[in-house]
Amino acid sequence: MPILKRDYKYIFVGGKGGVGKTVIASAIALDLAERGKKVLLASFNPVHSLSTLFQQDLSGGVVKKIKEVDSLYAVEVEIDDIVNRYKEKISRIIREFLKWAEIPIDPKGFIDIATTNPAFQESAMFDKMMDIVLNEGQNYDNIVFDTAAVANAIRLIGLSKIYGLWLGRVIKSREEALSLRYQLSFRKDKVLEEIKKDPLLLDLLSLNERYNEVKKILTNPNITTFVFVTIPTILAISVVKRFSDMVMAHDIPIGGVVVNMVIPREEAEKDLTGFLRSKWEEQERNIRLIKELFGENVLGYVPMFPTDVIGIEALRMIIDVLKR
Ligand SMILES: Nc1ncnc2c1ncn2[C@@H]1O[C@H](COP(=O)(O)OP(=O)(O)OP(=O)(O)O)[C@@H](O)[C@H]1O
Ligand SMILES: [Mg+2]
Repeated sequence: MPILKRDYKYIFVGGKGGVGKTVIASAIALDLAERGKKVLLASFNPVHSLSTLFQQDLSGGVVKKIKEVDSLYAVEVEIDDIVNRYKEKISRIIREFLKWAEIPIDPKGFIDIATTNPAFQESAMFDKMMDIVLNEGQNYDNIVFDTAAVANAIRLIGLSKIYGLWLGRVIKSREEALSLRYQLSFRKDKVLEEIKKDPLLLDLLSLNERYNEVKKILTNPNITTFVFVTIPTILAISVVKRFSDMVMAHDIPIGGVVVNMVIPREEAEKDLTGFLRSKWEEQERNIRLIKELFGENVLGYVPMFPTDVIGIEALRMIIDVLKR
């Protein structure tokens, strides 16, 4: 049995910071690869930890093969590079747009507003994620996305809505500006020619097409799923509850919830100070809450190990636990 009950092409792993998203995403990816699938593990964190976890250099923003495993590949997406490139792209669109609409305003102010707001970084990441879905999709059987706590997968979907609205509006006013030009012009043939090769409109249309294609994929319950990782604390649970509600609001079924860092009962009983016992009792209350909230969707409970999870063998241990 694989960790996930069904085979999905795109698997997003989300949850609060530090709960074990990278570890669980890696375990899911390793499990699929060891079952003969060709898998890409894509990390979208500002600070990457795949290199530490797999004990090899996976940095540099390019896809690299994991040494000991056939058919497992990984990439640590370099966020700064992506944000800068996206900034150039958006600046160009804004500049062109103002020029074409013949709005005599210094574009700098507009560019600053568009590129310094807090959603911009996430928008840039969404753009990169679209790239991976569209360009790497055909090269792999499965792609596992390890997403940062803040820039989590669901915000990306919510954002994708805004992104679509924004694009739709820009395209519309662009078309209006063009047809106005056409109506007012004496040399219609010449303007028509110009309209046809309007690079900005073509750019926007292809962006919009890309966006629609990705959206179709992300909201297809047979292709895409979200797996959430939590630890048995109220805060982490409420984050997952919020995320899973958001995902389900988009009609996407969740692929499951992994409960990580569970204190084993034997350890709690062995501890004579009572400290672990009290922690364990609190944990049991929180696990009851997890069962109430997520029931059937709980994929498994991973114990708290005495050391960090590092290396393929440690990941295999987690895979075994999740298959039990
Ligand atoms: N079951 C476990 N037992 C012991 N240590 C664990 C367990 N799961 C994860 N860890 C350790 O906890 C730390 C955080 O795990 P991980 O990096 O996977 O979390 P994350 O959710 O990806 O964090 P971030 O939000 O910073 O990306 C790591 O040092 C990892 O080795
Ligand atoms: Mg991580």
